[in-house]
Amino acid sequence: MADKKFYISTPIYYPSDKLHIGHTYSTVQADCMARYKRFRGYDTFFLTGTDEHGQKIEDKAKEAGVTPKEYVDNIVAGIKDLWKLMNISNDKFIRTTDEYHEKAVQKIFNIMYEKGDIYKGEYEGLYCKPCESFWTETQAENGLCPDCGRPVIKAKEESYFFKLSKYADKLLEYYEAHPDFFAPKMREAEMVNNFIKPGLQDLCISRSTFKWGIQVPVNPEHVIYVWLDALTNYITALGYGSEDDSLFKKFWPADVHLIGKDITRFHTIYWPAFLMSIDVPLPEKVYCHGWVLLEGGKMSKSKGNVVDPVKLADRYGVDALRYYLLREVAYGADGVFSNENLINRINSDLANDLGNLVSRTVAMVDKYFGGTIPAEREAGEFDDDLKALAAETKVNTEKALDNLYFSDSIAAIWKFISRTNKYIDETAPWTLAKDESKKARLAEVMYNLCESIRIISVLIAPAMPETSVKIRNQLGVGEIKTWDECGEFGKEDSYTVVKGEIIFPRIDLEKELEELAAQSAPKEAENPLKEEILGVAKIGIEDFAKVDLRVAEIKECVPVKKAKKLLQLTLDDGTGVPRTVASGIAKYYTPDELIGKKIILVSNLKPAVLCGVESCGMILAADAGEDEVKVVFVDGVPAGTKIR
Ligand code: MSP
Repeated sequence: MADKKFYISTPIYYPSDKLHIGHTYSTVQADCMARYKRFRGYDTFFLTGTDEHGQKIEDKAKEAGVTPKEYVDNIVAGIKDLWKLMNISNDKFIRTTDEYHEKAVQKIFNIMYEKGDIYKGEYEGLYCKPCESFWTETQAENGLCPDCGRPVIKAKEESYFFKLSKYADKLLEYYEAHPDFFAPKMREAEMVNNFIKPGLQDLCISRSTFKWGIQVPVNPEHVIYVWLDALTNYITALGYGSEDDSLFKKFWPADVHLIGKDITRFHTIYWPAFLMSIDVPLPEKVYCHGWVLLEGGKMSKSKGNVVDPVKLADRYGVDALRYYLLREVAYGADGVFSNENLINRINSDLANDLGNLVSRTVAMVDKYFGGTIPAEREAGEFDDDLKALAAETKVNTEKALDNLYFSDSIAAIWKFISRTNKYIDETAPWTLAKDESKKARLAEVMYNLCESIRIISVLIAPAMPETSVKIRNQLGVGEIKTWDECGEFGKEDSYTVVKGEIIFPRIDLEKELEELAAQSAPKEAENPLKEEILGVAKIGIEDFAKVDLRVAEIKECVPVKKAKKLLQLTLDDGTGVPRTVASGIAKYYTPDELIGKKIILVSNLKPAVLCGVESCGMILAADAGEDEVKVVFVDGVPAGTKIR
């Protein structure tokens, strides 16, 4: 027993945006697994944490006017609070800004360097000077930086490269020899066919255009690429590369790296190659789960549709949310979140099936026996069937959990819950209670119900730890000691029940949905420009996104001969190619007032010929009064800057 170990990790999360139910899904699965393994007697290590370096964080901190460390400290505190709220039982929380991690990453870099797996080269690509960022041809559409809209240049940056190409064959050999490395298996073909077979390129593993990262030990002008820094967390957290590596010796290799499918390449190609380079064994399994989606697609901050786990947990309870996520998303597949779906699950599975079973049973033991089931009991019809399913449920739940089929494990448990509810109907205790001679049979029925519920309290404990405790309190039994307490009847001699609160109150679906809709509707005060006042129809963000607005500088301005109202403007829009726009502002501005001014340009308007001038775009102006038009000027922003 003692030498059984289990090491599971979640991805380390970026502290750039607020974590949502997708991230919560990831961490709840790992927690369920860790709790299950602990119950089964494994010495378990469960790791989570935060991935804190990189340009994105540096930029966000700059925007917020704080140092990168101050920026991440603040957000990491919130992430830790979320995991506490969700009852996450991680053994360690690693931050990539932790000193021990930074030192160990430098050691890892040195090992690779000394082995000859790292060489200095040149990164060649498109470059936006003001933004200090590299782009690919596809990202920099029309030769413009996707961030600021300014023209990119072809550039070269001195970089360190990892010889990833050297490991292609070794990776294929490893996959072949370890058929369980990928879970689900289909991810293997994806990686092999899309990335390895077409030819692995060496990997750029340093940057010199920003500072927020771990210094390359052989060149302080460079910082280590965030993914090399981040992936190594799985071993640095165990003390690899430090004075005390006892945890590393005990727990490595990891049994499961649990990740979302979008980061499969990093975990099954880069990470194994890094480990091969430093002669460290590879993890046993990389489990790539699917995504929690919304009915309209992905959650995203820009769409404003990110679902907040804190709000859901506050409203429906932590275990209801944990249950829903584990049950709703099938193995390796995507799942769709909706409030309606969640409420339906709470009502049918939790309030009706499980909650009712517990409250009915406790109420009956209380009513028929004053709370304590008598010792004199008599077996009867249906008992064996119930007991057989209990034993089968243990096996099925184990099989599902051992293979990370969380949803299937819950389905197996709920099959047993339904069977137990059916047992009540079959044995009809209310009829037995009417007949004094059936007292012993009634006692056995109550005992079997309590035993079933006790078994259920063990089976659900990894997924719903709080609910398990609440149920056990009502049954009057103490803490679970081992997983093997489930499966078999007869572990308790008798029961003295304690009536308690309703574990999962039913929710009025219609009322709840109305309330949620009212909450998400914009408040009057926040939305003074109401549609009725403006007299215009609302558009979605996707409609607005079709309009490309950019800052442009008026370089030349002349009246249009054939049209009194028009001025012909020549603009610098950041592309380096002058642009002509005809604008009906001649009555309000003289050319001299406009030359040198920066304005907002609708740059993707279809060209139109106005009085002989081909106008490519439009400039923004406000109808400021009866006979007044004011051009919108902007200051201090370079030409070409995108307006969002
Ligand atoms: N920092 C990297 C991971 C480094 S691990 C060495 C990262 N962070 S992340 O915060 O962007 O994402 C963390 C995890 O959350 C990823 O596994 C990602 O797949 C997962 N999810 C993000 N959105 C998700 C959903 N909507 N649904 C399920 N999981 C999702 O990537």
